[in-house]
Amino acid sequence: MAYELPPLPYDYTALEPSISKSTLEFHHDKHHAAYVSKYNDAVKGTELDKKSIEEVIKEIAGNSDKQGLFNNAAQAWNHTFYWQCMKPNGGGTPTGSLAKKIDADFGSFDKFVEEFKSAGATQFGSGWAWLVLDNDTLKVTKTLNADNPLTSGQIPLLTMDVWEHAYYLDFQNKRPAYIDEFIGKLVNWDFVSENMAAA
Ligand code: FE2
Repeated sequence: MAYELPPLPYDYTALEPSISKSTLEFHHDKHHAAYVSKYNDAVKGTELDKKSIEEVIKEIAGNSDKQGLFNNAAQAWNHTFYWQCMKPNGGGTPTGSLAKKIDADFGSFDKFVEEFKSAGATQFGSGWAWLVLDNDTLKVTKTLNADNPLTSGQIPLLTMDVWEHAYYLDFQNKRPAYIDEFIGKLVNWDFVSENMAAA
């Protein structure tokens, strides 16, 4: 089935000044749109077209003959997930059962933030930082290029895009400055809580 490019869940200016309209236009309308379009073109008329994109990602992960398709499938999914991980006036701290689970599994919210920032800052080259549920334990992980935790049996709860296209127009080479804005002002903790509740 064709995978649709979802509209941004907020206006293109909604994340300013942390992330500019220009970044969101390029990132969503060019980068994300291209991954979706290439994915749809590649699966059209094949057996994979009958499956959900999540099923395709899990099925073809690690298959070197399908690396190009995997990259577009995973990038299409990762970006849809990433947009929902942010909101205007986000950031702050989680509440309720998510806050308790973070305290239990990381020691404190500050320890989680430290680990998440480190994952994003130390991902060499392009990739993603994640908060996942791994056998009912919260973990921070990072993936290279298009890879995502679905292929490891983990449940993604939060992601941060650390490809240069996510921050270069606004922060140039200062990835840690983008990471600070993401954690401090953009994270949509309601979405993260919903993901944990649904897991
Ligand atoms: Fe991206």
